[in-house]
Amino acid sequence: EWSLKERHSRLNSHAARYYHRILMHEAAGEVAREYLLGRGVRPSAWERFCLGFAPGVGLEGFLKENGYDGDALVASGLFTEHYGVLRERFRGRIIFPIYDARGRCLGFGGRALDDEEPKYLNSPESPVFSKSRNLYGLHLALPAIREQRRAIVVEGYMDCIAAQENGFTNTVASLGTAFTQDQARLLLRYTNEVVLAFDGDAAGSAAAMRSAGYLQELGGRVYVLDMADAKDPDEFLRLKGREAFREALEKRTVPFLEFKLERLLSDSDLRDVFKKAEIVKELMADLERISDHVVREGYLRGIARRLNTSEEAVRLEFMRHLAKRR
Ligand code: GTP
Ligand code: MN
Ligand code: MN
Ligand code: MN
Ligand code: MN
Repeated sequence: EWSLKERHSRLNSHAARYYHRILMHEAAGEVAREYLLGRGVRPSAWERFCLGFAPGVGLEGFLKENGYDGDALVASGLFTEHYGVLRERFRGRIIFPIYDARGRCLGFGGRALDDEEPKYLNSPESPVFSKSRNLYGLHLALPAIREQRRAIVVEGYMDCIAAQENGFTNTVASLGTAFTQDQARLLLRYTNEVVLAFDGDAAGSAAAMRSAGYLQELGGRVYVLDMADAKDPDEFLRLKGREAFREALEKRTVPFLEFKLERLLSDSDLRDVFKKAEIVKELMADLERISDHVVREGYLRGIARRLNTSEEAVRLEFMRHLAKRR
């Protein structure tokens, strides 16, 4: 008696193997091999992440040979049905199987080879698969996360693969800028220290703010990696190499509250006392989430120093914030 999830992941594993074989061995996979090699993704990564290619035909026959009927195929989300004819969901896409922490294949992401829209397509949301409740690469990252007691969170599949392939094996991807509360809870089961390495654009930075909130509410220690002038970790690693990334992780990660303070400062004029006051107010909710008194004290001082005001004033504002919340 298989649970729904087991049955679903068994079918998905068959499909993953099919896509993978095409990438590894078939003539139809040539475009995908060229694409991946062109982006610096080596065959070792194709194996490790069980990457594949979906030519768009042939999966139906393969799965039926393996004992699945049409209903199961449609229920898997890998096919849609039009007047009794099955059509594959992923056509002409690089395939990224998505696994849960226990290594069960729950769904897929598929990237277009050119600038077709959407750039990425996922398996449909279902009772067994939800993009927002899983983290890409987690099953592979778990040993390193446990050992280092720290996880790196990136936005994309390619970021996660590039990071892990360069030795940063404690990396997982949120699969988009929307790192969710469920993902925060999932990750914090394994470590309470998290480095957010989101894209360097406005969306990535906004995502860092939101994600850090979820993680801190749940007791996580959050750092943010400054992507400097790179677009995302994949590009960073390609342009600057693993040593530069290691150095950035050591020297250019800042505790989240500092990151937020700097961000607020960068679009504000400190000669204006009202602006200063606004910044202090913006930080109060974050400060409140920090339960450790020594850490909180450190932040209070840091904020005062950076804003060139007194600790006393920041502390009073914090007390007022707490009083109002009651
Ligand atoms: P590359 O262009 O292949 O390097 O992708 P990227 O990961 O840098 O893309 P981007 O920064 O635009 O998006 C980050 C992540 O968000 C992707 O890896 C996907 O998981 C997800 N994502 C981006 N675009 C889409 C989309 O159109 N649909 C879906 N479902 N997810 C997307
Ligand atoms: Mn293989
Ligand atoms: Mn982006
Ligand atoms: Mn990106
Ligand atoms: Mn990218």
